[in-house]
Amino acid sequence: MIVFLGGGRITAALVAGLRLAKFEEPILVHDRNADKLQRLKKEYRVAIESDLRRAVKLARVLVVAVRPNAVRGLLQEIGEVKRSVTAISLAAGIPLSKLRGTLGPSVRWARAMPSPVCRSGHGLTALTFDRRFPRSARRDVMNLFEKVGSVLQIPESKFDAFTVTYSSSHGYHALATLAGAAEKLGLTRKVALTAAAHALADGIVAWREGGISLDALLSESATPGGIARAAMAAMDSSGYARSIARGLRAGMARARGNARLE
Ligand SMILES: NC(=O)c1ccc[n+]([C@@H]2O[C@H](COP(=O)([O-])OP(=O)(O)OC[C@H]3O[C@@H](n4cnc5c(N)ncnc54)[C@H](OP(=O)(O)O)[C@@H]3O)[C@@H](O)[C@H]2O)c1
Repeated sequence: MIVFLGGGRITAALVAGLRLAKFEEPILVHDRNADKLQRLKKEYRVAIESDLRRAVKLARVLVVAVRPNAVRGLLQEIGEVKRSVTAISLAAGIPLSKLRGTLGPSVRWARAMPSPVCRSGHGLTALTFDRRFPRSARRDVMNLFEKVGSVLQIPESKFDAFTVTYSSSHGYHALATLAGAAEKLGLTRKVALTAAAHALADGIVAWREGGISLDALLSESATPGGIARAAMAAMDSSGYARSIARGLRAGMARARGNARLE
């Protein structure tokens, strides 16, 4: 049984993606909010359990999906688990060194960083495993996340940088910003969103699928002396790259703050 502790945003997206993939192992969700459990049960036919200890007892794989500031309390409440269990923390910023040992020596820990895009089956999940995490159990964790998209195994030292770079919020944020600026130029919201969505998504698909370098695509789409070139130059001189770098640094600082949570 795969047991999710926390039935919020990311659990709902993962469960939706697993259902879409016709994942067969039973799924159970524990959350402190009865209404969220009922909703998940109704929408995704998952088993639900409002008693934390009973939920944990049923787990072959435990997915810790509460917010970072709730992780420590949740793990303390569980106490020692005296059988071999794979625990996967989704909590951004909390390192394996803080998780290891919290549920006793029988529990092996991994971290995973999916995004809500896994709902569609086209997500990406970064994984990192604690030392001595058995090879066969690694495959098991990879198989689980491969059901909802691609999987990347990366060193834990790179996890925060991945987390802050990978968020699907970047896409939505870019879309909202570009469409908002287009509306100010007089486009209706609908046309602005459509144009902005095509500009962002089609360009990225062309890069992902075409085997053409990013430099070549940039050069193709922006004729020297042309409109796109003028727009990019104005964005760059207004600090576009600086602004993105600053955003990523703020995210990294927040992730490091999570690592210090007690
Ligand atoms: N959302 C994402 O895109 C995303 C992506 C990757 C990783 N993550 C990670 O996944 C974790 C969950 O994020 P989320 O966005 O899904 O958060 P969320 O929507 O707030 O969901 C967390 C759920 O856990 C419940 N909860 C908290 N403490 C609990 C406890 N002690 N016992 C039982 N239930 C408890 C919360 O209840 P209350 O509402 O009452 O607090 C809430 O229903 C975070 O650590 C985050 O870093 C999120």
